[in-house]
Amino acid sequence: MVLRRVLHLALALGLIAGGSLAVGPDPARAASFTDIADSKFRADIEWLAAAGITSGCGDGRFCPDGLVTRAQMASFLVRMFGYSAIPSSDPFDDDDGNKHEGNINRLAASGITAGCGDRRFCPNGIVTRGQMSTFLTRALGLRFGAGNDWFADDDGNKHEANLDRLFFAGVTRGCGTAAVCPNGSVTRGQMAAFLHRAAAPSPIGAPGMSELVTHPAPITVQIPGPARYRGVVFNADASTATLANRFGTIVPRAATADRTAVVSGVRYAHLIDGPMAGSWVKVDGSLARAVGRAPRPPACRYDDILTGRRAYEQHAITLLDTIYMLPSTYAPTDLVDTGGLGLNSGYKVRTVVAADLAAMARDARAAGAPLQVVSGYRSYATQQATFNYWVSVGGYEEALRASARPGHSEHQLGTALDFTSLGGAAPWNYADWAATPAGSWMAANAWRYGLLMTYPRNKSAVHCYDYEPWHYRYVGRELAAAVRASGMTLREAIWAAYGP
Ligand code: DAL
Ligand code: ZN
Repeated sequence: MVLRRVLHLALALGLIAGGSLAVGPDPARAASFTDIADSKFRADIEWLAAAGITSGCGDGRFCPDGLVTRAQMASFLVRMFGYSAIPSSDPFDDDDGNKHEGNINRLAASGITAGCGDRRFCPNGIVTRGQMSTFLTRALGLRFGAGNDWFADDDGNKHEANLDRLFFAGVTRGCGTAAVCPNGSVTRGQMAAFLHRAAAPSPIGAPGMSELVTHPAPITVQIPGPARYRGVVFNADASTATLANRFGTIVPRAATADRTAVVSGVRYAHLIDGPMAGSWVKVDGSLARAVGRAPRPPACRYDDILTGRRAYEQHAITLLDTIYMLPSTYAPTDLVDTGGLGLNSGYKVRTVVAADLAAMARDARAAGAPLQVVSGYRSYATQQATFNYWVSVGGYEEALRASARPGHSEHQLGTALDFTSLGGAAPWNYADWAATPAGSWMAANAWRYGLLMTYPRNKSAVHCYDYEPWHYRYVGRELAAAVRASGMTLREAIWAAYGP
């Protein structure tokens, strides 16, 4: 380690100074490093050079095993995300005279770093994987994937949420089973790989659940970095437009482009507003990548609009809320009794739920959290009676918060259930059923069996009902995992991916 640091310090000086934005990569330089033949990051390093983000560490070498300093990282990020044109001030004292100072200042001006405290940037500090995750999360604007606790070795680390976001976006793969090595250093080769993946991320999760998506060309879009784009949509035909809609709106970020041009095979966009106004920025070379943002569902209100996807096999993506509803004739016929699934009998669910529900019931029991069903399939007519019952208990306004009006209930799908603890009271009679052994086991594990809590706590403004820790809807394991990973409620996730 000491040797590597010494080596690194010697090599740190090699990083190139800031380059000009509107210049394409130099193909002669791209694949010419003499010391990367044996590096597992060779392809990433060649990409980094071809993209104009590095010219190596001097003498035709890249120094793939050198450790990355915070100052070098600043230069990498400035070049990659095109912050060069952002006017900067001088917020740090400890980088004065550093060859990367200009880029450090631009990085600060772009909002990607606030330094290491006390007007310092710690330019010679070795970048940790945790710090890198925070830099990249901010630069890429990643939102999804936090709170999943994918890694065991970052619990409590200040970068934990960003490490999870980076994993969700496919930029980091961790450093071993359930490990991400948050305090580990980053080599220049590794950095090349991180930046390469950040430029062409391959997100995990179901389509539409990820904010970084890949489209086939020709389609839109993207100015790397904080640039806001408009008018750089290229020849989207009907099919690609549909695809774009499915993946969500492309949201402008910080500047507007009025023209694009191709120079040496690289497309540039001319910005007319925002902090980079007047400059040309590099647009993704392949024109095949879009940075999407999930469209938001409408604000809560009460309406009776027929929901769009009403086929029985579409149950998992059928949007039901206080606005969208099923027809009264929606009545699945493949219902089975929960008694055959290792649970109490007297309630029905669709066959598609059966195997996963039985497995969940078995595992919950084995974990000392046995479950009892208190509601399953409810027909339109039954929901009418259910809603009327809650009106009689607390009045119309209160019933609206706790119960769906007929046609609006997920119970009519035959895939929603209400649970309580085996032998326990009705779940709504607990202060918080999720605080019981059965309720907390469900909150932590139901998604693994394809069931999601539709109405989680503190999300009433988006799901439009009171918190219901007992109400779960089956959407299948894959979608459940993706929704869980996204941090969205089911209503938000269905809307984001499919609309109403
Ligand atoms: N309690 C939920 C909202 C329902 O009635 O379906
Ligand atoms: Zn329910």
